[in-house]
Amino acid sequence: MSNAIQNKVVTVVGARPQFIKAAPVSVALRKADIPEYLIHTGQHYDYGMSQAFFDDLELATPDVNLGIGSGFPGRQTGTMLSEIEAVLAEQKPASVVIYGDTNSTLAGALAAVKLGLPICHVEAGLRSFNRAMPEETNRVLTDHCSDLLMCPTERAVRNLNQENIASGVHLVGDTMLDAVRVYGERAEQQSTILSDLNIASRGFALLTVHRPSNTDEPENLRAILEAAVELDMPVVFPIHPRTRAPLEGLSGAYTEKLARSGGAVIDPLGYFDMLKLLRHAAVVLTDSGGLQKEAYFLATPCVTMRDETEWLETVESGWNRIVGPSTPAIVEAVGRGDWPDGNPPALFGDGHAADLIVEIIGSSE
Ligand code: UD1
Repeated sequence: MSNAIQNKVVTVVGARPQFIKAAPVSVALRKADIPEYLIHTGQHYDYGMSQAFFDDLELATPDVNLGIGSGFPGRQTGTMLSEIEAVLAEQKPASVVIYGDTNSTLAGALAAVKLGLPICHVEAGLRSFNRAMPEETNRVLTDHCSDLLMCPTERAVRNLNQENIASGVHLVGDTMLDAVRVYGERAEQQSTILSDLNIASRGFALLTVHRPSNTDEPENLRAILEAAVELDMPVVFPIHPRTRAPLEGLSGAYTEKLARSGGAVIDPLGYFDMLKLLRHAAVVLTDSGGLQKEAYFLATPCVTMRDETEWLETVESGWNRIVGPSTPAIVEAVGRGDWPDGNPPALFGDGHAADLIVEIIGSSE
């Protein structure tokens, strides 16, 4: 077929964290002269959730944006599956590379496996052991149909081994660490977010909330916001689009209270501004998986407002505290202080995971 290039890779991305995870691999593929065709499913479509990241990062420009957008999760995943399949059938790549645990990941995996195309899953082996999380099902199913499983940590390798997945498993490190290594300094120089928001380095808390378990449960969201207004420091709260409506539905004028204490409730931020805030926050309060790691890479303490985490390494080393969405627990975890000193142990590779991934992809063809 006209589009068939012997070693071509098709990458599937769609949601904000995937743009960050895929960018270092995109750069490494170009360095290795491996052609990449990028499918954006359109799962995230607001400028601040999508294009802002393409502007900051050296991720390839999407060759196609499927524009699937939001919807019921089954229909969203199914529509992606059918559209991705059509593109893969046309492109006939040597392999399909997918990232993380979103509906775009699972759709990419299913489309590829149905066509018998080799799948490379980056960030394989993560487990929260909580099947109520949509991401947990996405991870398990994706890993079980992948051929190359690129693990960020030794624990991820062990998780796969426990599910009898041993072949094709590689410990490569975390491509989000690659991105922090490459872009951290640039963010430091270019972002003016601290002065824009009039906040001091190590003088504020950074808050993010977007997990359905917190956004779709008003009591959990309220408990988190009660904690935020109780903290004795300004809170910067970039709001994920999923969180906006439930936040507006809560009585309590939390947005005004946070603003009065010197903080800011703002739209989603680009990658560089977020990196700068992560580096300079006194503490990060989050339910995101990616931010737990990025805080760790930047030696910033983290309090995770979930009942479990996939990133136990960050907890075991003392840099992350798992508290669940409970006001007293969050306030206590922040107030207790006694965070570790120095730099966190290097448990996520050396910041060159993408080169290893591309080497393995290249040698497996
Ligand atoms: C998705 C991923 C989650 C990841 C997160 C990062 C799944 C199951 N979840 O969650 O693992 O941590 O992305 O952000 O794939 N919306 C907009 N504009 C956008 C994107 C979303 O308005 O650009 C709103 C829509 O109302 C949508 C809601 O956010 O219904 C949820 O979006 P969706 O992509 O389904 O899931 P996320 O919560 O973003």
